[in-house]
Amino acid sequence: MAVFLEQSHTFGEYLLIPGYSSTDCIPANISLKTPLAKYPGGASSALNLNIPLVSAIMQSVSDDTMAIALAREGGLSFIFCSQPIESQAQMVAKVKSYRAGFVVSNSNISPDGTLSDILALKEKTGHSTVAVTTDGTLSGRLVGIVTGRDYRVSRMPPETKVKEFMTKFENLIYAGEHTTLKEANDIIWEHKLNCLPLIDGAQRLKYFVFRKDYDTHKENENEMLDASKRYMVGAGINTRDYKERVPALIEAGADALCIDSSDGFTEWQKMTLQYVRGAYGDSVKIGAGNVVDRDGFLFLAEAGADFIKVGIGPGTICITREQKGIGRGQATAIIEVAMARDEYFEKTGVYIPICSDGGIVHDYHMTLALAMGADFIMLGRYFARFDESPTNKVNIEGSYMKEYWAEGSNRAKNWQRYDLGGKGALSFEEGVDAYVPYAGSLKSNVALSLSKVKSTMCNCGVFSVPELHKNAKIALVSSVSIVEGGAHDVLLKDRKPL
Ligand code: IMP
Repeated sequence: MAVFLEQSHTFGEYLLIPGYSSTDCIPANISLKTPLAKYPGGASSALNLNIPLVSAIMQSVSDDTMAIALAREGGLSFIFCSQPIESQAQMVAKVKSYRAGFVVSNSNISPDGTLSDILALKEKTGHSTVAVTTDGTLSGRLVGIVTGRDYRVSRMPPETKVKEFMTKFENLIYAGEHTTLKEANDIIWEHKLNCLPLIDGAQRLKYFVFRKDYDTHKENENEMLDASKRYMVGAGINTRDYKERVPALIEAGADALCIDSSDGFTEWQKMTLQYVRGAYGDSVKIGAGNVVDRDGFLFLAEAGADFIKVGIGPGTICITREQKGIGRGQATAIIEVAMARDEYFEKTGVYIPICSDGGIVHDYHMTLALAMGADFIMLGRYFARFDESPTNKVNIEGSYMKEYWAEGSNRAKNWQRYDLGGKGALSFEEGVDAYVPYAGSLKSNVALSLSKVKSTMCNCGVFSVPELHKNAKIALVSSVSIVEGGAHDVLLKDRKPL
């Protein structure tokens, strides 16, 4: 006879109960640092996140721009794998070669360009500093720079040649390509510059350093940096082409991998993990999933996963449950897998972090996911709303929206995510193509969300994620008390949409 389990629940059906808070239990004393990869008890993980957030392995969420923005705040992006190996590896390499505060110029022009070309470039890129190079590309020799101070639109004909009004190279203050950010900043201040070009031996422009970027860089104490002070980045892989994809991603510098699949309880995942362990031992950190129960967790733990992702069907763009009748309420799934993780730790002495993937709609869902036992959280919709996501910002009936589409939609066509060894195509959709409300910059939103998480942790009287796991008191609430939780029985003057 089939196995019947108890009803499954999701985050919105639970609330936290406060614990005793001492006077030093204030947001400034809370640490959100959390392990990403498994480790033996008594030791610490070789890979930790500074904030417990990672961005989803999705075309509409995690590219190199998102990865840089999230690493700057202390989290990690997993660059989407539903793209050719070369382009995914290039995105990884871009994150690794990105030097915080060092800007690679994408506004370049030749000396024979005109003032109207400069204005068109400014309109297109939004940048007011343009590099003038012999052939108008970044690989040409730098012969000058144009900034807003070099021309007056009202006094100069639009066909005026760039070479007539640019600041010539011989009059520029510049420095070598290996200059550090601190040294560049000193030169900027000493010479009262707005920007400093860094050039190589052949007088080619490598970077601009802008005065404002030094301060921005200094603000980010949580940055996820590797031993060489480069931003850290993760990458998704599938269970089909891993023998080619994994080496390319590792070569490009990926710091962690994660198998992207709707169902992790499969021999395909075991084979993929075995390949990685065989080829790289423990040096490559790799997550697997997704699972929703103890059996699935134990299977992937034994197969060698460094972390295990939990969630089938909670995603905001996901229609798997409707299409196939499979999945589990995300809260129930996390609670059961966290219990299995703790039992596994008691038995083997190895702690395997778990990631709650999908279904976060309100900031307090993050705190609940952590309280229920998640070590970190993967989010798609949340990050898709920000400036840094790869998708278009569009105006729908007077409101700004960002596009957000599922990996199992016809738009993404990520058939490998649903691969059961058949032909290389999606036989039906498991996700939708949608819009989400545009929300501004990642930095300000993450700061706000995490300030709420920390505030709730203070109410619970805990100082860290492991303490929250241990001490949280969580109650399942009735549908009537959920209604009581929002503003009720009053007429709202100003109700903002979600
Ligand atoms: P969200 O944060 O609730 O928007 O969920 C994001 C998560 O949804 C991703 O990390 C994936 O695990 C999952 N997901 C992405 N595409 C699909 C799909 O087409 N069907 C089901 N789940 C998906």
